[in-house]
Amino acid sequence: MLRKLLLSPMLYEIIIYSFMINKVRELVKEKCGPENWDYHISLVVKYSKLLAKKLGSDEKIAELGALMHDIGWIVDMKNDPDHEISGQPIAEQILKDIGYPQKIIDEVKHIIASHRGSTGPKPETITAKIVANADAMAHFDAIPWFMQLSLKNHDNDLEKAVNWIYNKIERDWSQKLTLPESKEIVKEKYEAIKLILTSRNE
Ligand SMILES: [Fe+2]
Repeated sequence: MLRKLLLSPMLYEIIIYSFMINKVRELVKEKCGPENWDYHISLVVKYSKLLAKKLGSDEKIAELGALMHDIGWIVDMKNDPDHEISGQPIAEQILKDIGYPQKIIDEVKHIIASHRGSTGPKPETITAKIVANADAMAHFDAIPWFMQLSLKNHDNDLEKAVNWIYNKIERDWSQKLTLPESKEIVKEKYEAIKLILTSRNE
């Protein structure tokens, strides 16, 4: 029985793919640093896997796409403005080196190209839709990080920093969360964030 299981192509595939995704996870974690990992990439992975499970999609591809979606700026911050373009050849090379088949690489490239919503092609696959949604859902868990970034970008002007976060969360909610399941998952957080950011005006 054990011998049969060990020789099963399905089991072999599971072992190989979990080995490969571990490699990708370690590489991304190391390159992006603890803050970007804890306050963004790991959250996009969390929500991508959750949505994939809810929608009956491939969790492994969703996780791989989530890990790679920002690889353009992770590898080089100067790529940030167009990382949905610069990330594609970088991802292709990394995934090729690890041994992923071209079909999966092409899927990940489409996820990268379409994840921003505001620019690039529209997500055509369910996994691309999942990662694009999860990219915005991650923001609802990252308010302390946004506050730090926003204060820095607005010369410590608290009012401007708070308004920037409020507008970003509103934009995410109304434009980027295109799947009803995404809104259902983060609804409580969205309402709590709005309440906290506006209660000073009551
Ligand atoms: Fe992202």
